Amino acid sequence: MTHSIPYGHQSIDDSDIEAVAEALRGDWLTTGPTVAAFERQIAAVAGATDSVAVTSGTAALHTAYAAAGVSSGDQVIVPALTFAATASTASLLGAEIVFADVQEDTGNIDPDAVSALTNERTAVVAAVDFAGHPAEIDELLPAARAVGAVLLEDAAHSIGSTYRGRPVGSLADVTTFSFFPTKNLTTTEGGAVVSDDSALITAARSFRSHGLVRDPALQRFPDEGAWHQEIHHLGLNYRLPDVLCALGLSQIRRLADFKASRARAFDRYIEGLQDVGGLRLPIKRDHVDPMWHLFPIRVQDGRRREVFDRLRAQGILVQVNYIPVYWHPYYEDLGYRRGQCPVAERYYSEEISLPMYANLATDDQDRVIDAVRSILA
Ligand SMILES: Cc1ncc(COP(=O)(O)O)c(C=O)c1O
Repeated sequence: MTHSIPYGHQSIDDSDIEAVAEALRGDWLTTGPTVAAFERQIAAVAGATDSVAVTSGTAALHTAYAAAGVSSGDQVIVPALTFAATASTASLLGAEIVFADVQEDTGNIDPDAVSALTNERTAVVAAVDFAGHPAEIDELLPAARAVGAVLLEDAAHSIGSTYRGRPVGSLADVTTFSFFPTKNLTTTEGGAVVSDDSALITAARSFRSHGLVRDPALQRFPDEGAWHQEIHHLGLNYRLPDVLCALGLSQIRRLADFKASRARAFDRYIEGLQDVGGLRLPIKRDHVDPMWHLFPIRVQDGRRREVFDRLRAQGILVQVNYIPVYWHPYYEDLGYRRGQCPVAERYYSEEISLPMYANLATDDQDRVIDAVRSILA
């Protein structure tokens, strides 16, 4: 029996293991100096002033929306083609989600659709860098600014990518990352919020740790005693431990190699599949340099399910990214109906994510290419 090939997988080497072991031998398992060191490095990779490390990409979105002041009565514009957390974390804060359709080639949020949906209730426009390919930030930023909204880039897929020569993390008002094992770098579970806006970063740091105020100069009851901390705004415990930040620091040192490996895998898929009929391959705009998180193919002629099932049956553990968010029963029960974002729905109906990760062996990739070719021959 041949081994199975996952759609995504972490790359952990001895340097990562040693970094974690060293953190475990230290005094701080959490809330220690490695958190700040990791935050500085994430900000450097992102080309941003500061970052706040949190426990997942979902926590990063929740924290970013809360720090941007999202609350009930606000609208948040979200692409229909994304993981549900891009929407659900804003829903949890009481916002009304307005789904925007996506561009037919990249699957990223369509700036024209956004411009048609913005109004004085729009608090945040959220863009997702689908598969690692940055969204059209230079068109989205003016659309958001025109109504005084914040532009959030959900860069769960795209740490390490650049847009017009600028790193993802330096483009939008606030950017969120995910460090789940299949992502471009991992801390096991983990995420981060990055921004140049110091007020937003301060609010995010507060939300991450219960909203606790420790500085007596900022407290309402500073004479209570040296132990005193007080809460002015609600928050949660979304703190990423030092042990996991140590893994993240080690992974950042390997990020350029990860990007090069993923780029090689991308080129090899294009070469191996470009002449296959009934298949659309991902495109890359000239002004971006993506760090590819996914390799999304689109199977035409209604054969997506058959191709998916046959690949899975051969141990090629492909995925589908993503069911349009408003198809989820939670959103359907709120009154959202199928048909509202036809480009995203079509994209979903054809999409399969082939295995894509830094350590994807060429033999395994050839097995995937041969399997797709023989199914569609
Ligand atoms: C686009 C997008 N946003 C947010 C998330 C949430 O990240 P996490 O799984 O780290 O909570 C994911 C994770 O798959 C994602 O793909």
